[in-house]
Amino acid sequence: MTNADFFAMAVKSAEKAYAPYSHFKVGAVLLTKDGQIFTGCNIENSSYSMTICAERTAVFKAVSSGFRDFKAIAVAGSSDGDFSKPCIPCGACLQVLSEFCDDDFMIVLSDGVYKLSDFMPKKFSAENIL
Ligand code: THU
Repeated sequence: MTNADFFAMAVKSAEKAYAPYSHFKVGAVLLTKDGQIFTGCNIENSSYSMTICAERTAVFKAVSSGFRDFKAIAVAGSSDGDFSKPCIPCGACLQVLSEFCDDDFMIVLSDGVYKLSDFMPKKFSAENIL
């Protein structure tokens, strides 16, 4: 699968977004190290803070299905059907991804491929607690 194919799957996943308040639809596709795919979309709520992002939907689907080893995620977001502007994962999603992913975990956006460490050079982790 090419990065373009991977990103196209994220765009497709955005079709499932429930975003009646922001009208910003986001799709995510999470790839496990053994080749499993988990999709996600943002799911908004009239009590706005209950909204969940596409990335965390995908991570929680994967973890609750027994998968914790991840290789890459593709993320696509748009308010008008044009997904060419990069949708950078929010801080909450980066924190959740960092629980399970190494620094070299790949993040595929519309404008290229990044590493988790590009967006999150330092992170709060179990090391800070133990
Ligand atoms: N959103 C995501 O799904 N992922 C992100 O990383 C950023 C924001 C969603 C949340 C909300 O439904 C909409 O985009 C506007 O913030």
